[in-house]
Amino acid sequence: RKCIAVMTSGGDSQGMNAALRGLVRMAMYRHARVFLIYEGYQGLVQGGDLIKETTWYGVSHIMGKGGTVIGTARCKEFRERWGRRAAALNLVKKRITNLIVIGGDGSLTGANLFREEWPELLQELVEEGNISAQEQTECDHLNIVGMVGSIDNDMCGTDMTLGADSALHRIVEAVDAISFTASSHQRCFVLEVMGRHCGYLALVSSLGCNADWCLIPESPPSDNWEKKMCEQLCRSREEGARMNLIIVAEGAVDRQGQPISSQYVKSVIEKELGYDTRITVLGHVQRGGAPSAYDRLMGCRVGAAAANAVLDADKDNEPVLVGLQGNRVVQSPLMKCVRETQGIAGAMKDGNFKEALSMRAGSFVR
Ligand code: F6P
Repeated sequence: RKCIAVMTSGGDSQGMNAALRGLVRMAMYRHARVFLIYEGYQGLVQGGDLIKETTWYGVSHIMGKGGTVIGTARCKEFRERWGRRAAALNLVKKRITNLIVIGGDGSLTGANLFREEWPELLQELVEEGNISAQEQTECDHLNIVGMVGSIDNDMCGTDMTLGADSALHRIVEAVDAISFTASSHQRCFVLEVMGRHCGYLALVSSLGCNADWCLIPESPPSDNWEKKMCEQLCRSREEGARMNLIIVAEGAVDRQGQPISSQYVKSVIEKELGYDTRITVLGHVQRGGAPSAYDRLMGCRVGAAAANAVLDADKDNEPVLVGLQGNRVVQSPLMKCVRETQGIAGAMKDGNFKEALSMRAGSFVR
């Protein structure tokens, strides 16, 4: 029977548990054995109790839970060669040659490096006397499949990342709550949302919440944007609004690449318009709570497809990323997706915002 190991890595996100359940059940339906790696790459390096075989019922009642039930952690050791060698030993000892990673682009890049080094790592383990030549032959190839779990929706190769939809729900709920108090006092609210270097959450929640102004990293505002923003806020008040809402992505920058902070936006509004202004930083509330129906269903679909992908892979298969495109579950070359994602970050860093926005458009600004 084929052996699969699965782990969640990087920041947790809603929908990871549904993906876990989907893949475990599909793999078991296909008679594979599935091992859960606890605490992300830390568990892979440490082994022992942190890599445990699961059962059909081992993943019951997890779909509605937020976060990841198998934990996630940052792991310095996996960045070192000896750490990856220890990880390889832990897998070979259990005859695991299929690894599924649910995480962001950093975690998936780490998995690909591990796969590339795998033959050499096994050779070193033989030379050290830690595995036999037979174990080396039986486990000579590592298959990798990735799924993207991140509230940021910042990865190429999938229209949505697991957790982005739930995070949007949290933001919309928060705006609904804030709106009552804001209108009562005729206040202006600057809401800071997560997303790292991606503006998806800010942009889409602005559309869904009727925000007056929105600042995202991929499209820095034109010079003089402060004046234009203030004009828009005034217009909205003249038309009868009792409050204003500005949504700022945590990674928002100006044309010079300098961060635009919520504090700065507030100070502009107070100075130019004298509006009573408050800042709300939503923070990890966005990553908390139960997953939305969308994330649960997406998790089930990509999870099952990831199990199929890894079980059908042969030695010549490149690692794949399983995601959604046009509401269909698709497989894409993992490293192509990582390169494109990193290309967007690079373009933004170099000030090529037009290029960054058009590359991002492939994933969400249709
Ligand atoms: O990548 C997900 C994310 O929530 C980002 O939106 C945010 O910038 C970051 O993680 C926060 O990371 P941490 O939980 O380590 O503070």
